Amino acid sequence: MNHAPFNSQNNREIERVVIGRATQDGAGVKLTRVLTQDLQQRLDPFLMLDNFASDDPNDYGGGFPDHPHRGFETVTYMIAGRMRHKDSAGHEGLLQNGGVQWMTAGKGVIHSEMPEQEAGVMEGFQLWLNLPANQKMCVPWYRDIQSYEIPEFTTSQGVLVRVISGESQGTTGAMSRSAALYPTQPLYLDIHFNQDGFFEQPLNPKHNAFLYTYRGETEVIGRDREGQPLARHRMGILQNRGDCVQLRGQSGTHVLLIAGQPLYEPIAQHGPFVMNTRQELMQAVEDYQSGLFNL
Ligand code: CO
Repeated sequence: MNHAPFNSQNNREIERVVIGRATQDGAGVKLTRVLTQDLQQRLDPFLMLDNFASDDPNDYGGGFPDHPHRGFETVTYMIAGRMRHKDSAGHEGLLQNGGVQWMTAGKGVIHSEMPEQEAGVMEGFQLWLNLPANQKMCVPWYRDIQSYEIPEFTTSQGVLVRVISGESQGTTGAMSRSAALYPTQPLYLDIHFNQDGFFEQPLNPKHNAFLYTYRGETEVIGRDREGQPLARHRMGILQNRGDCVQLRGQSGTHVLLIAGQPLYEPIAQHGPFVMNTRQELMQAVEDYQSGLFNL
């Protein structure tokens, strides 16, 4: 196959390729921050994407001891490894190979995410998804989604698609919620090319969307049918023009496709708190310091 088998006139193309920034979080966990604060407006409703990947326990052993969150959701996708989650709302769970933890921090949780392994590979992603102003102070919620609970399908071209949220080719994701309460309607796909092939996904042009290649190399097919390369560990932000994305991968290519409806609300962030105003941030700090997150 040398060219895309589909009409390419309405393809969304890569507007910008982003190289993540190496950093540390928690108790010295080494990770790559792919979606950084300066991209929060552009990629509204997504606030952050971290990629951790290491086979050296010194890079991840410290884990993420107790820390608070308020005003948004964290979506953690484990590719490899085991992490134990505990939070102040009384939830506890083991996050492991291929599973997802979806946590709505709402009005506030304190939680820890600690490795349950002393060796081997720890690899995965944490995405921060904003909540609309009227949901920021909702009751915290949490769900562990085991790998087998994530719907998946394989196309005739040998492309395996895991649908974490949203919908693809008639398969509804593990997380599917009312658009009235959760207007961001996130699409979160993990796309594995088991052989050379193409994959096409319709995308609402208003939804902000990006790709992140974590194995091999992806090509995004442009309107001229030429492939725009997206190398391993690169994020490609898609233009808000066109209504689908066409990807090409080689055997072994793994790429995340994430999209959502922007909230168009002011974003005020102070560390693990994301609200709409500075005053709400000050209130979050005060509530946390006075122990209200433990209730
Ligand atoms: Co956290």
